[in-house]
Amino acid sequence: MGRKTGDERRTESGIEIKPVYRPGDLEDFDYEERLGDPGEYPYTRGPYPTMYRGRPWTIRQYAGFGTARETNRRFRYLLERGQTGLSVAFDLPTQMGRDSDHYLAAGEVGKVGVAIDALPDMRDLFEGIPLKEVSTSMTINATAAILLLLYSLVGEEQGADPAELAGTTQNDILKEYLARGTYIYPPAPSMRLTTDMFAYCAREMPRWNTISISGYHIREAGSTAVQELAFTLANAIAYVEGAVEAGLEVDSFAPRLSFFFNAHNNLFQEVAKYRAARRMWAKIMKERFGARDEKSMKLRFHTQTAGSSLTAQQAENNIVRTAVQALSAILGGTQSLHTNAFDEALALPSERSATIALRTQQILAHEAGLMDTVDPLAGSYFIEALTDELEEKAWEKIREIDELGGAVRAIEERHMQREIEEAAFRYQQEIEKGERVVVGVNRYVTEEEDLDVELHSVDEAIRDRQIERLEELRAGRSEKEVRRALERVKKAAAGEENLLYPMKDALAAYATLGEVSDALREVFGEYRP
Ligand code: 3HC
Repeated sequence: MGRKTGDERRTESGIEIKPVYRPGDLEDFDYEERLGDPGEYPYTRGPYPTMYRGRPWTIRQYAGFGTARETNRRFRYLLERGQTGLSVAFDLPTQMGRDSDHYLAAGEVGKVGVAIDALPDMRDLFEGIPLKEVSTSMTINATAAILLLLYSLVGEEQGADPAELAGTTQNDILKEYLARGTYIYPPAPSMRLTTDMFAYCAREMPRWNTISISGYHIREAGSTAVQELAFTLANAIAYVEGAVEAGLEVDSFAPRLSFFFNAHNNLFQEVAKYRAARRMWAKIMKERFGARDEKSMKLRFHTQTAGSSLTAQQAENNIVRTAVQALSAILGGTQSLHTNAFDEALALPSERSATIALRTQQILAHEAGLMDTVDPLAGSYFIEALTDELEEKAWEKIREIDELGGAVRAIEERHMQREIEEAAFRYQQEIEKGERVVVGVNRYVTEEEDLDVELHSVDEAIRDRQIERLEELRAGRSEKEVRRALERVKKAAAGEENLLYPMKDALAAYATLGEVSDALREVFGEYRP
Protein backbone atom coordinates (compact mmCIF):
# COMPACT_ATOMS: atom_id res chain seq x y z
CA MET A 1 0.00 0.00 0.00
CA GLY A 2 1.20 3.48 -0.68
CA ARG A 3 1.51 6.26 1.84
CA LYS A 4 -1.81 6.74 3.63
CA THR A 5 -2.92 10.18 4.79
CA GLY A 6 -6.68 10.34 5.49
CA ASP A 7 -8.47 8.47 2.71
CA GLU A 8 -5.90 9.51 0.07
CA ARG A 9 -3.44 6.94 -1.22
CA ARG A 10 -0.28 8.09 -2.99
CA THR A 11 2.80 6.22 -4.09
CA GLU A 12 6.23 7.59 -3.15
CA SER A 13 6.28 9.06 -6.68
CA GLY A 14 3.34 11.26 -5.70
CA ILE A 15 0.95 9.34 -7.95
CA GLU A 16 -2.55 9.28 -6.47
CA ILE A 17 -4.14 5.83 -6.48
CA LYS A 18 -7.92 5.98 -6.99
CA PRO A 19 -10.31 3.70 -5.11
CA VAL A 20 -11.69 2.28 -8.39
CA TYR A 21 -10.57 2.43 -12.04
CA ARG A 22 -13.09 2.29 -14.87
CA PRO A 23 -13.18 2.45 -18.69
CA GLY A 24 -13.26 6.22 -18.38
CA ASP A 25 -9.68 6.09 -17.08
CA LEU A 26 -8.61 4.77 -20.47
CA GLU A 27 -10.35 7.20 -22.77
CA ASP A 28 -9.33 6.94 -26.46
CA PHE A 29 -6.98 4.09 -25.54
CA ASP A 30 -5.42 2.86 -28.82
CA TYR A 31 -4.00 -0.68 -28.47
CA GLU A 32 -1.61 -0.44 -31.41
CA GLU A 33 -0.27 2.99 -30.43
CA ARG A 34 -0.07 2.45 -26.65
CA LEU A 35 0.79 -1.24 -26.42
CA GLY A 36 1.37 -3.18 -29.61
CA ASP A 37 1.64 -6.93 -29.42
CA PRO A 38 4.58 -8.46 -27.52
CA GLY A 39 7.63 -8.19 -29.80
CA GLU A 40 6.00 -5.32 -31.70
CA TYR A 41 6.77 -1.58 -31.48
CA PRO A 42 6.58 0.14 -28.97
CA TYR A 43 7.20 -3.16 -27.11
CA THR A 44 5.14 -2.12 -24.08
CA ARG A 45 4.11 -5.76 -23.61
CA GLY A 46 7.64 -7.14 -23.99
CA PRO A 47 10.57 -7.40 -26.42
CA TYR A 48 9.82 -10.92 -27.62
CA PRO A 49 6.57 -12.24 -29.16
CA THR A 50 6.44 -15.29 -26.88
CA MET A 51 8.29 -13.98 -23.79
CA TYR A 52 8.37 -16.65 -21.07
CA ARG A 53 6.52 -19.20 -23.19
CA GLY A 54 9.49 -19.11 -25.53
CA ARG A 55 12.12 -18.93 -22.81
CA PRO A 56 11.82 -18.36 -19.06
CA TRP A 57 13.57 -15.32 -17.62
CA THR A 58 17.17 -15.98 -16.60
CA ILE A 59 17.62 -16.81 -12.95
CA ARG A 60 20.76 -14.81 -12.40
CA GLN A 61 21.83 -14.59 -8.76
CA TYR A 62 24.47 -11.99 -7.93
CA ALA A 63 27.34 -13.72 -6.10
CA GLY A 64 30.95 -13.09 -5.23
CA PHE A 65 33.20 -12.97 -2.17
CA GLY A 66 36.66 -13.93 -1.03
CA THR A 67 39.02 -15.52 -3.50
CA ALA A 68 38.16 -16.60 -7.03
CA ARG A 69 38.17 -20.24 -5.93
CA GLU A 70 35.63 -19.56 -3.17
CA THR A 71 33.32 -17.73 -5.55
CA ASN A 72 33.75 -20.46 -8.15
CA ARG A 73 32.42 -22.89 -5.54
CA ARG A 74 29.36 -20.69 -4.93
CA PHE A 75 28.77 -20.39 -8.72
CA ARG A 76 28.81 -24.19 -9.08
CA TYR A 77 26.57 -24.55 -6.00
CA LEU A 78 23.97 -22.25 -7.57
CA LEU A 79 24.25 -23.75 -11.07
CA GLU A 80 23.79 -27.27 -9.60
CA ARG A 81 20.55 -26.03 -7.95
CA GLY A 82 19.11 -24.65 -11.15
CA GLN A 83 20.46 -21.12 -11.61
CA THR A 84 20.53 -20.34 -15.37
CA GLY A 85 22.90 -17.34 -15.61
CA LEU A 86 25.97 -16.11 -13.72
CA SER A 87 26.38 -12.72 -12.06
CA VAL A 88 29.69 -11.66 -10.54
CA ALA A 89 30.12 -9.34 -7.57
CA PHE A 90 33.63 -7.89 -7.34
CA ASP A 91 35.31 -6.54 -4.23
CA LEU A 92 35.86 -2.79 -3.93
CA PRO A 93 39.59 -2.82 -4.80
CA THR A 94 38.74 -4.57 -8.09
CA GLN A 95 35.99 -2.06 -8.76
CA MET A 96 38.30 0.86 -7.92
CA GLY A 97 41.27 -0.30 -10.00
CA ARG A 98 43.46 -1.31 -7.07
CA ASP A 99 45.36 -4.58 -6.66
CA SER A 100 44.92 -6.50 -3.43
CA ASP A 101 48.41 -5.42 -2.27
CA HIS A 102 47.64 -1.70 -2.60
CA TYR A 103 47.47 0.06 0.76
CA LEU A 104 43.94 1.32 -0.02
CA ALA A 105 42.79 -2.32 -0.44
CA ALA A 106 43.39 -3.13 3.22
CA GLY A 107 40.22 -4.45 4.85
CA GLU A 108 38.32 -4.68 1.59
CA VAL A 109 39.93 -7.62 -0.24
CA GLY A 110 37.27 -10.24 -0.95
CA LYS A 111 34.76 -8.46 1.25
CA VAL A 112 31.79 -7.22 -0.84
CA GLY A 113 32.77 -9.32 -3.82
CA VAL A 114 35.49 -11.50 -5.32
CA ALA A 115 39.09 -10.25 -5.54
CA ILE A 116 40.40 -10.23 -9.13
CA ASP A 117 43.96 -8.94 -9.59
CA ALA A 118 44.98 -10.53 -12.89
CA LEU A 119 44.41 -13.32 -15.41
CA PRO A 120 45.09 -16.28 -13.04
CA ASP A 121 42.29 -15.11 -10.70
CA MET A 122 39.86 -14.92 -13.63
CA ARG A 123 40.86 -18.44 -14.66
CA ASP A 124 40.08 -19.73 -11.16
CA LEU A 125 36.78 -17.84 -11.10
CA PHE A 126 35.44 -19.80 -14.08
CA GLU A 127 37.30 -23.08 -13.54
CA GLY A 128 35.09 -25.93 -14.82
CA ILE A 129 32.45 -23.54 -16.17
CA PRO A 130 32.29 -23.54 -20.01
CA LEU A 131 31.99 -19.84 -20.89
CA LYS A 132 30.52 -20.49 -24.32
CA GLU A 133 27.59 -22.25 -22.65
CA VAL A 134 26.63 -19.66 -20.01
CA SER A 135 25.94 -15.95 -20.01
CA THR A 136 27.74 -13.97 -17.34
CA SER A 137 26.93 -10.58 -15.93
CA MET A 138 29.73 -8.62 -14.31
CA THR A 139 28.88 -5.77 -11.97
CA ILE A 140 31.84 -3.65 -12.83
CA ASN A 141 32.00 -0.08 -13.98
CA ALA A 142 35.22 1.97 -13.92
CA THR A 143 37.29 -1.17 -14.62
CA ALA A 144 34.66 -2.85 -16.83
CA ALA A 145 36.94 -2.99 -19.89
CA ILE A 146 39.63 -4.83 -17.90
CA LEU A 147 37.24 -7.49 -16.58
CA LEU A 148 35.63 -7.91 -20.00
CA LEU A 149 39.07 -8.52 -21.54
CA LEU A 150 40.09 -10.94 -18.80
CA TYR A 151 36.82 -12.80 -19.37
CA SER A 152 37.52 -12.96 -23.09
CA LEU A 153 41.08 -14.21 -22.47
CA VAL A 154 39.78 -17.03 -20.24
CA GLY A 155 37.08 -17.91 -22.78
CA GLU A 156 39.73 -18.09 -25.51
CA GLU A 157 41.90 -20.32 -23.31
CA GLN A 158 38.86 -22.62 -23.02
CA GLY A 159 38.63 -22.71 -26.83
CA ALA A 160 35.74 -20.29 -27.25
CA ASP A 161 35.69 -17.63 -29.96
CA PRO A 162 35.18 -14.19 -28.31
CA ALA A 163 32.25 -13.72 -30.70
CA GLU A 164 30.51 -16.65 -28.98
CA LEU A 165 30.75 -15.20 -25.49
CA ALA A 166 27.44 -13.93 -24.04
CA GLY A 167 27.07 -11.71 -21.05
CA THR A 168 26.93 -8.18 -19.75
CA THR A 169 29.25 -5.65 -18.19
CA GLN A 170 27.41 -3.09 -16.11
CA ASN A 171 29.78 -0.39 -17.38
CA ASP A 172 27.34 2.38 -16.40
CA ILE A 173 29.72 5.02 -15.10
CA LEU A 174 27.18 7.85 -14.99
CA LYS A 175 25.14 6.21 -12.21
CA GLU A 176 28.42 5.76 -10.29
CA TYR A 177 28.78 9.52 -10.16
CA LEU A 178 25.08 9.76 -9.36
CA ALA A 179 24.53 7.03 -6.78
CA ARG A 180 26.97 4.17 -6.35
CA GLY A 181 30.38 5.88 -6.19
CA THR A 182 32.84 3.41 -7.77
CA TYR A 183 34.22 5.81 -10.38
CA ILE A 184 37.93 6.46 -11.06
CA TYR A 185 38.38 8.87 -13.96
CA PRO A 186 36.62 12.17 -14.77
CA PRO A 187 33.36 11.91 -16.80
CA ALA A 188 34.83 12.64 -20.25
CA PRO A 189 37.55 9.96 -20.27
CA SER A 190 35.10 7.55 -18.58
CA MET A 191 32.64 8.11 -21.43
CA ARG A 192 35.49 7.54 -23.93
CA LEU A 193 36.25 4.18 -22.28
CA THR A 194 32.55 3.31 -22.52
CA THR A 195 32.27 4.18 -26.21
CA ASP A 196 35.55 2.35 -26.93
CA MET A 197 33.93 -0.73 -25.38
CA PHE A 198 30.86 -0.27 -27.57
CA ALA A 199 33.06 -0.19 -30.68
CA TYR A 200 35.30 -3.06 -29.51
CA CYS A 201 32.34 -5.35 -28.74
CA ALA A 202 30.54 -4.48 -31.98
CA ARG A 203 33.62 -5.78 -33.80
CA GLU A 204 34.96 -8.56 -31.53
CA MET A 205 32.16 -9.67 -29.16
CA PRO A 206 28.82 -9.05 -30.91
CA ARG A 207 26.86 -11.15 -28.40
CA TRP A 208 28.11 -9.11 -25.44
CA ASN A 209 25.73 -6.63 -23.80
CA THR A 210 28.17 -3.77 -23.43
CA ILE A 211 26.32 -1.84 -20.76
CA SER A 212 23.59 -2.37 -18.18
CA ILE A 213 22.17 1.10 -17.72
CA SER A 214 21.12 0.99 -14.12
CA GLY A 215 18.19 2.40 -12.28
CA TYR A 216 18.71 -0.10 -9.46
CA HIS A 217 21.22 1.94 -7.48
CA ILE A 218 19.40 5.20 -8.14
CA ARG A 219 16.34 3.68 -6.45
CA GLU A 220 18.52 2.16 -3.72
CA ALA A 221 19.85 5.67 -3.03
CA GLY A 222 16.24 6.63 -2.24
CA SER A 223 14.78 7.85 -5.52
CA THR A 224 11.12 7.46 -6.44
CA ALA A 225 10.03 5.06 -9.20
CA VAL A 226 9.55 8.03 -11.55
CA GLN A 227 13.07 9.34 -10.83
CA GLU A 228 14.49 5.84 -11.30
CA LEU A 229 12.80 5.57 -14.68
CA ALA A 230 13.60 9.11 -15.85
CA PHE A 231 17.22 9.29 -14.65
CA THR A 232 18.05 5.87 -16.07
CA LEU A 233 16.69 6.81 -19.48
CA ALA A 234 18.41 10.21 -19.30
CA ASN A 235 21.73 8.45 -18.67
CA ALA A 236 20.96 6.07 -21.53
CA ILE A 237 20.35 9.03 -23.85
CA ALA A 238 23.76 10.43 -22.83
CA TYR A 239 25.50 7.15 -23.70
CA VAL A 240 23.85 6.98 -27.11
CA GLU A 241 24.68 10.64 -27.80
CA GLY A 242 28.28 10.01 -26.71
CA ALA A 243 28.63 7.03 -29.02
CA VAL A 244 27.04 8.82 -31.97
CA GLU A 245 29.33 11.82 -31.38
CA ALA A 246 32.28 9.40 -31.35
CA GLY A 247 31.23 8.41 -34.86
CA LEU A 248 29.40 5.14 -34.18
CA GLU A 249 26.30 4.39 -36.21
CA VAL A 250 23.39 3.96 -33.76
CA ASP A 251 22.29 0.52 -34.98
CA SER A 252 25.87 -0.76 -34.69
CA PHE A 253 25.82 -0.67 -30.89
CA ALA A 254 22.28 0.08 -29.63
CA PRO A 255 21.01 -3.54 -29.88
CA ARG A 256 23.52 -4.46 -27.18
CA LEU A 257 22.54 -1.79 -24.68
CA SER A 258 20.70 -3.34 -21.75
CA PHE A 259 19.08 -2.03 -18.60
CA PHE A 260 18.87 -2.86 -14.91
CA PHE A 261 15.95 -1.86 -12.71
CA ASN A 262 14.91 -2.20 -9.09
CA ALA A 263 11.87 -4.19 -7.98
CA HIS A 264 10.54 -2.25 -5.03
CA ASN A 265 7.54 -2.70 -2.72
CA ASN A 266 4.59 -1.19 -4.60
CA LEU A 267 3.84 -4.08 -6.95
CA PHE A 268 1.50 -2.29 -9.38
CA GLN A 269 3.70 0.80 -9.70
CA GLU A 270 6.71 -1.40 -10.43
CA VAL A 271 4.86 -3.34 -13.16
CA ALA A 272 3.76 -0.03 -14.70
CA LYS A 273 7.34 1.31 -14.47
CA TYR A 274 8.80 -1.54 -16.55
CA ARG A 275 6.04 -1.27 -19.16
CA ALA A 276 6.48 2.51 -19.42
CA ALA A 277 10.26 2.06 -19.70
CA ARG A 278 9.89 -0.17 -22.78
CA ARG A 279 7.51 2.22 -24.52
CA MET A 280 9.64 5.28 -23.75
CA TRP A 281 12.88 3.68 -24.89
CA ALA A 282 11.30 2.53 -28.17
CA LYS A 283 10.22 6.11 -28.88
CA ILE A 284 13.57 7.60 -27.85
CA MET A 285 15.53 5.28 -30.14
CA LYS A 286 13.17 5.59 -33.10
CA GLU A 287 12.26 9.29 -32.93
CA ARG A 288 15.28 10.89 -31.25
CA PHE A 289 18.10 8.78 -32.66
CA GLY A 290 16.59 7.52 -35.90
CA ALA A 291 17.30 3.88 -35.14
CA ARG A 292 16.05 1.56 -37.87
CA ASP A 293 16.98 -1.85 -36.43
CA GLU A 294 14.09 -2.98 -34.20
CA LYS A 295 16.64 -4.53 -31.82
CA SER A 296 17.84 -0.99 -31.14
CA MET A 297 14.37 -0.06 -29.89
CA LYS A 298 13.78 -3.07 -27.63
CA LEU A 299 14.52 -2.37 -23.98
CA ARG A 300 15.75 -5.58 -22.35
CA PHE A 301 16.38 -5.50 -18.63
CA HIS A 302 17.56 -7.31 -15.52
CA THR A 303 15.87 -6.76 -12.19
CA GLN A 304 17.10 -7.09 -8.64
CA THR A 305 14.69 -7.00 -5.73
CA ALA A 306 15.13 -3.98 -3.46
CA GLY A 307 18.05 -4.45 -1.09
CA SER A 308 17.10 -1.23 0.67
CA SER A 309 13.73 -2.74 1.65
CA LEU A 310 15.32 -5.62 3.58
CA THR A 311 15.06 -5.35 7.35
CA ALA A 312 17.42 -6.64 9.99
CA GLN A 313 14.41 -6.94 12.30
CA GLN A 314 12.37 -10.14 11.86
CA ALA A 315 14.66 -10.94 8.92
CA GLU A 316 12.62 -13.90 7.67
CA ASN A 317 9.94 -11.38 6.67
CA ASN A 318 12.33 -10.48 3.85
CA ILE A 319 11.53 -13.79 2.14
CA VAL A 320 7.97 -12.51 1.62
CA ARG A 321 9.05 -9.00 0.61
CA THR A 322 11.45 -10.46 -1.96
CA ALA A 323 8.80 -12.79 -3.36
CA VAL A 324 6.33 -9.93 -3.87
CA GLN A 325 9.02 -7.76 -5.45
CA ALA A 326 10.09 -10.61 -7.73
CA LEU A 327 6.46 -11.06 -8.74
CA SER A 328 6.32 -7.43 -9.90
CA ALA A 329 9.42 -7.92 -12.08
CA ILE A 330 7.96 -11.05 -13.66
CA LEU A 331 4.56 -9.46 -14.26
CA GLY A 332 6.52 -6.56 -15.78
CA GLY A 333 8.40 -8.82 -18.21
CA THR A 334 11.98 -8.85 -16.90
CA GLN A 335 14.54 -10.80 -18.96
CA SER A 336 16.75 -11.68 -16.02
CA LEU A 337 16.18 -11.62 -12.26
CA HIS A 338 18.08 -11.64 -8.98
CA THR A 339 16.16 -12.28 -5.75
CA ASN A 340 17.80 -11.04 -2.55
CA ALA A 341 18.56 -13.35 0.32
CA PHE A 342 16.62 -12.74 3.54
CA ASP A 343 19.74 -12.21 5.68
CA GLU A 344 21.38 -9.62 3.42
CA ALA A 345 20.55 -6.74 5.76
CA LEU A 346 22.99 -8.48 8.10
CA ALA A 347 25.64 -10.15 5.91
CA LEU A 348 26.41 -11.65 2.51
CA PRO A 349 24.05 -14.53 1.67
CA SER A 350 24.78 -17.88 3.29
CA GLU A 351 24.26 -21.05 1.24
CA ARG A 352 20.92 -21.56 2.99
CA SER A 353 19.62 -18.05 2.36
CA ALA A 354 20.96 -18.04 -1.21
CA THR A 355 19.09 -21.29 -1.86
CA ILE A 356 15.81 -19.87 -0.52
CA ALA A 357 16.27 -16.86 -2.79
CA LEU A 358 16.83 -19.16 -5.77
CA ARG A 359 13.88 -21.38 -4.90
CA THR A 360 11.66 -18.30 -4.68
CA GLN A 361 12.19 -17.71 -8.40
CA GLN A 362 11.70 -21.38 -9.21
CA ILE A 363 8.39 -21.47 -7.34
CA LEU A 364 7.21 -18.33 -9.15
CA ALA A 365 8.36 -19.80 -12.48
CA HIS A 366 6.82 -23.25 -12.12
CA GLU A 367 3.95 -23.06 -9.64
CA ALA A 368 2.24 -19.70 -10.16
CA GLY A 369 1.21 -19.76 -13.83
CA LEU A 370 3.36 -16.70 -14.54
CA MET A 371 4.86 -18.11 -17.73
CA ASP A 372 1.56 -19.07 -19.36
CA THR A 373 0.68 -15.79 -21.03
CA VAL A 374 2.50 -12.60 -21.98
CA ASP A 375 2.01 -9.33 -20.06
CA PRO A 376 -1.04 -10.67 -18.16
CA LEU A 377 -2.02 -7.34 -16.61
CA ALA A 378 -2.39 -5.57 -19.98
CA GLY A 379 -5.75 -3.94 -20.49
CA SER A 380 -6.30 -3.45 -16.76
CA TYR A 381 -7.88 -0.02 -16.26
CA PHE A 382 -5.54 0.49 -13.31
CA ILE A 383 -2.29 -0.80 -14.83
CA GLU A 384 -2.71 1.02 -18.14
CA ALA A 385 -3.65 4.30 -16.40
CA LEU A 386 -0.69 3.89 -14.03
CA THR A 387 1.67 3.08 -16.93
CA ASP A 388 0.51 6.23 -18.73
CA GLU A 389 0.95 8.40 -15.61
CA LEU A 390 4.44 7.10 -14.82
CA GLU A 391 5.45 7.68 -18.44
CA GLU A 392 4.10 11.22 -18.41
CA LYS A 393 5.91 12.13 -15.18
CA ALA A 394 9.14 10.58 -16.41
CA TRP A 395 9.03 12.56 -19.68
CA GLU A 396 8.72 15.75 -17.61
CA LYS A 397 11.94 14.92 -15.78
CA ILE A 398 13.76 13.99 -18.97
CA ARG A 399 12.75 17.34 -20.48
CA GLU A 400 14.16 19.10 -17.40
CA ILE A 401 17.46 17.26 -17.83
CA ASP A 402 17.54 18.04 -21.55
CA GLU A 403 17.09 21.73 -20.70
CA LEU A 404 20.10 21.50 -18.36
CA GLY A 405 22.19 20.17 -21.24
CA GLY A 406 21.80 16.43 -20.65
CA ALA A 407 22.64 13.89 -17.97
CA VAL A 408 26.38 14.61 -17.67
CA ARG A 409 25.73 18.31 -17.07
CA ALA A 410 22.83 17.49 -14.71
CA ILE A 411 25.13 15.22 -12.69
CA GLU A 412 27.89 17.83 -12.59
CA GLU A 413 25.33 20.31 -11.29
CA ARG A 414 24.04 17.70 -8.77
CA HIS A 415 20.49 18.18 -10.14
CA MET A 416 19.63 14.48 -10.00
CA GLN A 417 21.53 13.89 -6.76
CA ARG A 418 19.52 16.65 -5.04
CA GLU A 419 16.22 15.19 -6.23
CA ILE A 420 17.20 11.74 -4.97
CA GLU A 421 18.32 13.09 -1.59
CA GLU A 422 15.01 14.93 -1.14
CA ALA A 423 13.01 11.83 -2.08
CA ALA A 424 15.06 9.66 0.28
CA PHE A 425 14.47 12.13 3.12
CA ARG A 426 10.70 12.22 2.48
CA TYR A 427 10.49 8.41 2.40
CA GLN A 428 12.40 8.06 5.68
CA GLN A 429 10.21 10.70 7.34
CA GLU A 430 7.06 8.84 6.27
CA ILE A 431 8.44 5.73 7.94
CA GLU A 432 9.33 7.60 11.09
CA LYS A 433 5.85 9.15 11.23
CA GLY A 434 4.27 5.74 10.70
CA GLU A 435 2.60 6.94 7.50
CA ARG A 436 4.51 4.22 5.67
CA VAL A 437 4.37 0.85 7.45
CA VAL A 438 7.45 -1.38 7.58
CA VAL A 439 6.38 -4.61 9.29
CA GLY A 440 8.62 -5.47 12.22
CA VAL A 441 10.22 -2.04 12.17
CA ASN A 442 7.50 0.56 12.89
CA ARG A 443 4.53 -1.78 13.35
CA TYR A 444 4.07 -5.35 14.67
CA VAL A 445 7.36 -4.89 16.50
CA THR A 446 8.34 -7.73 18.83
CA GLU A 447 11.13 -8.24 21.29
CA GLU A 448 14.08 -9.22 19.14
CA GLU A 449 14.70 -12.96 18.90
CA ASP A 450 18.22 -13.68 17.66
CA LEU A 451 18.26 -14.72 14.04
CA ASP A 452 19.08 -18.41 14.39
CA VAL A 453 20.90 -18.80 11.05
CA GLU A 454 24.58 -18.85 10.33
CA LEU A 455 25.68 -15.60 8.71
CA HIS A 456 28.29 -15.62 5.97
CA SER A 457 31.67 -14.26 7.03
CA VAL A 458 34.74 -13.35 4.96
CA ASP A 459 38.15 -14.68 5.98
CA GLU A 460 40.45 -11.72 6.67
CA ALA A 461 43.48 -13.80 5.58
CA ILE A 462 42.29 -13.52 1.98
CA ARG A 463 44.40 -10.41 1.37
CA ASP A 464 47.55 -12.29 2.41
CA ARG A 465 46.75 -15.06 -0.06
CA GLN A 466 46.13 -12.55 -2.82
CA ILE A 467 49.43 -10.79 -2.07
CA GLU A 468 51.30 -14.10 -2.33
CA ARG A 469 49.65 -14.75 -5.70
CA LEU A 470 50.66 -11.30 -6.92
CA GLU A 471 54.29 -11.94 -5.87
CA GLU A 472 54.28 -15.25 -7.78
CA LEU A 473 52.71 -13.55 -10.81
CA ARG A 474 55.30 -10.78 -10.93
CA ALA A 475 58.12 -13.28 -10.45
CA GLY A 476 56.91 -15.39 -13.35
CA ARG A 477 56.23 -12.75 -16.00
CA SER A 478 58.44 -10.76 -18.38
CA GLU A 479 58.68 -7.35 -16.75
CA LYS A 480 60.03 -5.93 -20.01
CA GLU A 481 57.00 -7.14 -21.96
CA VAL A 482 54.60 -5.81 -19.32
CA ARG A 483 56.30 -2.38 -19.22
CA ARG A 484 56.20 -2.14 -23.02
CA ALA A 485 52.52 -3.12 -23.09
CA LEU A 486 51.61 -0.57 -20.41
CA GLU A 487 53.41 2.16 -22.35
CA ARG A 488 51.22 1.30 -25.35
CA VAL A 489 48.13 1.66 -23.16
CA LYS A 490 49.23 5.13 -22.10
CA LYS A 491 49.97 6.11 -25.70
CA ALA A 492 46.51 4.95 -26.80
CA ALA A 493 44.91 6.82 -23.90
CA ALA A 494 46.65 10.02 -24.97
CA GLY A 495 45.51 9.47 -28.56
CA GLU A 496 42.45 8.23 -30.41
CA GLU A 497 43.18 4.48 -30.67
CA ASN A 498 40.57 2.13 -29.22
CA LEU A 499 41.94 1.41 -25.75
CA LEU A 500 40.77 -2.16 -25.45
CA TYR A 501 43.29 -3.63 -27.91
CA PRO A 502 46.46 -2.49 -26.07
CA MET A 503 44.76 -3.20 -22.71
CA LYS A 504 44.10 -6.80 -23.78
CA ASP A 505 47.75 -7.28 -24.78
CA ALA A 506 48.90 -5.96 -21.41
CA LEU A 507 46.54 -8.24 -19.48
CA ALA A 508 47.61 -11.24 -21.60
CA ALA A 509 51.21 -10.43 -20.59
CA TYR A 510 50.09 -10.67 -16.95
CA ALA A 511 49.84 -6.98 -16.23
CA THR A 512 47.55 -6.58 -13.24
CA LEU A 513 44.24 -4.74 -13.02
CA GLY A 514 45.90 -2.12 -10.82
CA GLU A 515 48.81 -1.59 -13.23
CA VAL A 516 46.49 -1.11 -16.23
CA SER A 517 44.25 1.20 -14.19
CA ASP A 518 47.29 3.22 -13.08
CA ALA A 519 48.44 3.58 -16.69
CA LEU A 520 45.07 5.19 -17.44
CA ARG A 521 45.26 7.30 -14.25
CA GLU A 522 48.53 8.75 -15.48
CA VAL A 523 46.81 10.05 -18.62
CA PHE A 524 43.22 10.68 -17.47
CA GLY A 525 43.75 11.70 -13.86
CA GLU A 526 41.20 10.85 -11.18
CA TYR A 527 37.75 12.39 -10.65
CA ARG A 528 37.56 14.59 -7.56
CA PRO A 529 33.90 15.76 -7.17
N1 3HC B 1 11.86 -15.65 -27.87
C1 3HC B 1 12.98 -15.59 -28.62
N2 3HC B 1 14.22 -15.40 -28.15
C2 3HC B 1 14.32 -15.23 -26.83
C3 3HC B 1 13.22 -15.25 -25.96
C4 3HC B 1 11.93 -15.48 -26.55
N3 3HC B 1 10.83 -15.55 -25.80
N4 3HC B 1 13.65 -15.05 -24.72
C5 3HC B 1 14.97 -14.88 -24.80
N5 3HC B 1 15.39 -15.01 -26.06
C6 3HC B 1 16.75 -14.95 -26.57
C7 3HC B 1 17.30 -13.53 -26.54
O1 3HC B 1 17.05 -12.86 -27.75
C8 3HC B 1 18.78 -13.78 -26.31
O2 3HC B 1 19.38 -14.07 -27.53
P1 3HC B 1 20.85 -13.46 -27.87
O3 3HC B 1 21.82 -14.18 -26.99
O4 3HC B 1 21.03 -13.71 -29.31
O5 3HC B 1 20.79 -12.03 -27.51
C9 3HC B 1 18.82 -15.03 -25.44
O6 3HC B 1 17.57 -15.70 -25.67
C10 3HC B 1 18.95 -14.69 -23.97
O7 3HC B 1 17.82 -13.92 -23.62
P2 3HC B 1 17.99 -12.46 -22.93
O8 3HC B 1 19.11 -11.72 -23.57
O9 3HC B 1 16.67 -11.83 -22.89
O10 3HC B 1 18.39 -12.86 -21.42
P3 3HC B 1 19.80 -12.76 -20.73
O11 3HC B 1 19.61 -13.18 -19.35
O12 3HC B 1 20.84 -13.44 -21.54
O13 3HC B 1 20.15 -11.20 -20.81
C11 3HC B 1 19.89 -8.92 -20.24
C12 3HC B 1 19.35 -10.32 -20.06
C13 3HC B 1 19.11 -7.97 -19.35
C14 3HC B 1 19.76 -8.50 -21.71
C15 3HC B 1 21.39 -8.92 -19.89
O14 3HC B 1 21.94 -7.63 -20.06
C16 3HC B 1 21.67 -9.38 -18.48
O15 3HC B 1 21.78 -10.56 -18.23
N6 3HC B 1 21.82 -8.44 -17.54
C17 3HC B 1 22.13 -8.84 -16.18
C18 3HC B 1 22.68 -7.70 -15.41
C19 3HC B 1 22.93 -8.13 -13.98
O16 3HC B 1 22.84 -9.29 -13.63
N7 3HC B 1 23.26 -7.14 -13.12
C20 3HC B 1 23.48 -7.43 -11.74
C21 3HC B 1 23.95 -6.19 -11.06
S1 3HC B 1 24.08 -6.45 -9.35
C22 3HC B 1 24.23 -4.84 -8.81
O17 3HC B 1 24.67 -3.92 -9.48
C23 3HC B 1 23.71 -4.61 -7.43
C24 3HC B 1 24.85 -4.36 -6.53
O18 3HC B 1 25.53 -3.14 -6.86
C25 3HC B 1 24.32 -4.28 -5.13
